[in-house]
Amino acid sequence: MDKLRIAVIGVGRISVMHLGAIKYLKDIAELVAVCDIKTDRAKETAGKYGCRAYTDYIEMLDKEKPDAVHICTPHYLHTPMARACFEKGIAVLTEKPMGIGYEDCLKTVEMAERKNLLYGVIFQCRYNDSSVLVKKAVASGKLGKIESVVSTLTWSRPDSYYSESDWKGTWDKEGGGVVIDQVIHSLDLANWIIDDEIVSIGASIANRGHKTVTVEDTAEGMIEYKNGVKYGFYCMNNYGCDEPVAIKFFAEKGKAFLTYDYAYIEYNNGSTERAETTAPDVVYGGGKDYWGFMHVRQIEQFYKALQGKERLEISAREALKTQKIINSIYESAKSGEKIIFGGGDNK
Ligand SMILES: NC(=O)c1ccc[n+]([C@@H]2O[C@H](COP(=O)([O-])OP(=O)(O)OC[C@H]3O[C@@H](n4cnc5c(N)ncnc54)[C@H](O)[C@@H]3O)[C@@H](O)[C@H]2O)c1
Repeated sequence: MDKLRIAVIGVGRISVMHLGAIKYLKDIAELVAVCDIKTDRAKETAGKYGCRAYTDYIEMLDKEKPDAVHICTPHYLHTPMARACFEKGIAVLTEKPMGIGYEDCLKTVEMAERKNLLYGVIFQCRYNDSSVLVKKAVASGKLGKIESVVSTLTWSRPDSYYSESDWKGTWDKEGGGVVIDQVIHSLDLANWIIDDEIVSIGASIANRGHKTVTVEDTAEGMIEYKNGVKYGFYCMNNYGCDEPVAIKFFAEKGKAFLTYDYAYIEYNNGSTERAETTAPDVVYGGGKDYWGFMHVRQIEQFYKALQGKERLEISAREALKTQKIINSIYESAKSGEKIIFGGGDNK
């Protein structure tokens, strides 16, 4: 089978996780081009990875005709870029979040489905051995019915994190702060593991310490599920350091504790299980510890789906559930009202 021809749009901070993974997956995929509006970045990356450089992504799509594009640009560009790819019959793997507004994301998912094109969204933490252990313990019934879930995220994103970026910390380009950018992974993991229909979300947001931006650096809320699960979350990126995130599941037959790369389960009968995520032997060449190591697993799964060998696991349709949670948190915080879900909105 011919190798998949891959292109990447946006070669900023996160791109090393994609470029390193594509290089590692050289038996099934080939990086043909990268694009960035910053000419130096595009040229330097193309030189390093041995592919062509572009500064206009439409020109790149037209000339290279890749099988799939990875979108690693600021949030507000994710959906228009995905639609431009679909217009040209090209599959898309986009970084989280899939977009800023729910309706816009839904429209983009429907377009991909109409054109029968693969559309995946990166939520690499689902591939951690730790996440898989807890997911299996719940899905198999071993932990029994979940009763309550709580998650905390206390990270540090100083003012310089925002001032050094031309899009982070803005409502129009990032779409929010700690909710849409950082705690999105915890919300996605918890909701994926709980795996039930949401009935309501009530939340509040605040900016308690960042002087140069207006987006929230703190949020808390309660997500209630049809099966009675109550999931409470608290997050702030105005903390003194990056503490490991924590998600705790309290269930009928025991309790599970999950950080992104470690999990511990204690059953009521005294038995225990634990998992520590083993890093794959891919060399990403940089990246932050809190991004984990699992981009390569999700990218490989996306490529196998593109080759028709497997079903796409984290499709954009699946990621819409998390997008709905994010948008409902903002809607609830801004209106002061609990957001009531209609049947099927999130399941
Ligand atoms: N999965 C994760 O854990 C994780 C971690 C960090 C970032 N991300 C996500 O990755 C995405 C990018 O974040 P980042 O931190 O790398 O941002 P960044 O600002 O470092 O990089 C974005 C790049 O896109 C380029 N760009 C902007 N407009 C463009 C255009 N029209 N055409 C081509 N290139 C363009 C910029 O010049 C820049 O190089 C975001 O969606 C972010 O949320 C995900």
